[in-house]
Amino acid sequence: MSGVRVVGRYSFILNGRPTTVEAPPGYTLLETLRQILHLTGTKDGCSSGDCGACTVLLDGKAVHSCLTLISQVEGREVTTVEGLAGSKVVKSFAESGAVQCGYCTPGFVVAVEALLRANPNPSIEEVKEALRGNLCRCTGYVKILDAVKMAISD
Ligand code: FES
Ligand code: FES
Repeated sequence: MSGVRVVGRYSFILNGRPTTVEAPPGYTLLETLRQILHLTGTKDGCSSGDCGACTVLLDGKAVHSCLTLISQVEGREVTTVEGLAGSKVVKSFAESGAVQCGYCTPGFVVAVEALLRANPNPSIEEVKEALRGNLCRCTGYVKILDAVKMAISD
């Protein structure tokens, strides 16, 4: 039948608040966040798992929201960069000059948050490993590593 749009109803915790959204079952979490919930802090850099710009926390772990279907988050806890406003990681990125165009920044902030929740005092090698999937075309990564060091020492 043409003209019939199939949508599912999904409930989860988003940035600490119970949230229910109607979305096509094939939508990714990234599409749902940006297009339906209008949370545009999470960026779409590649839509294919290669850049890390879309990173969010799912039950506290960093995932690519472009590779996560909305149906997979039912009953789970999602944190986006909006939910990390005011955090020490956000502050350290701002204070270290780690933000140029800013497109990669939300993904880095979320990935660093996930790392520090799991390991509050990582080595620089552990930091590099945790951020391996996040790409930045502007900074050369030096300032980003400075920001992570600041967040670790905070
Ligand atoms: S947009 Fe998801 S990894 Fe690039
Ligand atoms: S600050 Fe521009 S891509 Fe990282």
